[in-house]
Amino acid sequence: MKAPFFLAPMAEISHRALRELIEDFGGCDCYFSEMISAAALLANGPFEKWYIDSAPKPEKHVFQLVGSNPEVISRAAAVLDRLDCAGIDINMGCSAPLIRKTGAGAAWMASIDNAGRLISQVRPQTKRRLSVKLRIGFNEDFDYLLRFCRCLEDAGVELITLHPRTVMEKFKRTARWEYVALLKNELKIPVAGNGDVASPEDLLRRAASPCDAVMVGRAAVKMPWIFAQAKNNEEFTPNIEETGLRFLELLALYQPPEFHISRARRFFGFFCDNLLWGNYLKNLLNREESLTGIKRVWQEFFAEGSS
Ligand SMILES: Cc1cc2nc3c(=O)[nH]c(=O)nc-3n(C[C@H](O)[C@H](O)[C@H](O)COP(=O)(O)O)c2cc1C
Repeated sequence: MKAPFFLAPMAEISHRALRELIEDFGGCDCYFSEMISAAALLANGPFEKWYIDSAPKPEKHVFQLVGSNPEVISRAAAVLDRLDCAGIDINMGCSAPLIRKTGAGAAWMASIDNAGRLISQVRPQTKRRLSVKLRIGFNEDFDYLLRFCRCLEDAGVELITLHPRTVMEKFKRTARWEYVALLKNELKIPVAGNGDVASPEDLLRRAASPCDAVMVGRAAVKMPWIFAQAKNNEEFTPNIEETGLRFLELLALYQPPEFHISRARRFFGFFCDNLLWGNYLKNLLNREESLTGIKRVWQEFFAEGSS
């Protein structure tokens, strides 16, 4: 059995429109939502209903929570527990300074005790699979990572996803998958690996390596067919123009108008990398202020290319 394939949580990207698009191509085994602010969820903010949409496959859907206050995160987990989903994930890996400064995301990795107490508080609030996504830690110290993860395991976490970079590392340094294998070897719970899967071949290679699941982020935005292509292990020539148009259609259907432009820019920022003149096209698309304008520029680009 090969390890299952997960879509990574990505802010402003891992929303319903992308999931629908991935499903169009055959889907993946599990969809992590973009991070949901525990505080905003409890405050019932105007956009929360979009964040808690677990369609099209609630049975494969994992809500990811981000926050710094254990009481707030526990109450938010109780709210999500009542929705249709497969699991709840706590973000302990986000290294964005704005998030870390509030004590959320990777800031949790600074203290094993605090992280363990958080999980002990959240655990009784949900019967769903409780998971944590994290990084190696602030330093490259496997002993610390192992103690951290064992504490989470003892407190009731059922799955850990390791994005094997340190907190301060950006994407330039490659993900160190050997940490995924080391961690899997030591923990009783499953360990998913994540980082730098760039093609269906990479995905298959990682799925055959010592890990319990492979999570894909950026490459699944550039190639929403990556999971299906890896699963079927056959050549596949996507229609880039039509896939872009389909995404725009899904975006209009499943995201609020206030999100359309930011989410379109995010998506095309990766999707245009399929094209030789992708950066040029990205610049043109980024000048547009409506989905209609984006669609027009997108279609003109292909019409010019084929004339
Ligand atoms: C635009 C963007 C947004 C992200 N947002 C989140 C997030 O909300 N929660 C999270 O745990 N990780 C987030 N990440 C990290 C990804 O889940 C993943 O760990 C990282 O991109 C490495 O995987 P990849 O090489 O397959 O992209 C984000 C990454 C990107 C590029």
